[in-house]
Amino acid sequence: MELCGPRIRLRPPRPEDTLALFTLMSDPELAPFVYWEPHQDPHQTYQYLEHLQTKEGFFVIEAGEQPAGVIGLHLDWANKLGETETWLGQPYWGKGLNTEAKVVLFDYAFGPWDLRRIQAIAHVHNPRSQRALEKLGFQREGLLRRWRWIRGEPWDFYMYSLLPEEWLSSRPPIFY
Ligand SMILES: CC(C)(COP(=O)(O)OP(=O)(O)OC[C@H]1O[C@@H](n2cnc3c(N)ncnc32)[C@H](O)[C@@H]1OP(=O)(O)O)[C@@H](O)C(=O)NCCC(=O)NCCS
Repeated sequence: MELCGPRIRLRPPRPEDTLALFTLMSDPELAPFVYWEPHQDPHQTYQYLEHLQTKEGFFVIEAGEQPAGVIGLHLDWANKLGETETWLGQPYWGKGLNTEAKVVLFDYAFGPWDLRRIQAIAHVHNPRSQRALEKLGFQREGLLRRWRWIRGEPWDFYMYSLLPEEWLSSRPPIFY
């Protein structure tokens, strides 16, 4: 499946993405915000892509025909719930691509997929991620203390959620 916005395309990951995503995933500046260590070898990126291919609801974000990052929803169909996860390579931050990718994905998730809740967790020391969620209408529900053990440290996260009736008014005016 592919989903398109004015400047982005969400499409399934493929092995040919390896080198472009390796360049982005080897960036040490991304490390404080993501679960992985900077990739040292394209084979790590290849394995990451292989894993992504097994996950329904995950897409490569393509901008200008280049892979720019990854967005997805961990889907829990029984509860009509999706947990969103996004990363963009640093050169693509602050350009509106995250908003566009989320609009395209959430329109589909609240539309044909009929989800009743999209949730997201944001590290307490990641204000960019928190702001990016809040400006799309996500409500902060609470603090998840020591929610993830990452690189030998406990990480605290805020839990955010967005409901379809809120999306009707909070959705940015992006048309495609
Ligand atoms: C999180 C991410 C997807 C957001 O994409 P983005 O293009 O950077 O997001 P946006 O520019 O649309 O929004 C970020 C907002 O945070 C604001 N911001 C940036 N740094 C900030 C800071 N230190 N404190 C507060 N706000 C900050 C920006 O000004 C912007 O708000 P504005 O549009 O009202 O000015 C991207 O930064 C990323 O991939 N980061 C690394 C991985 C990551 O953190 N993923 C989330 C895991 S929980």
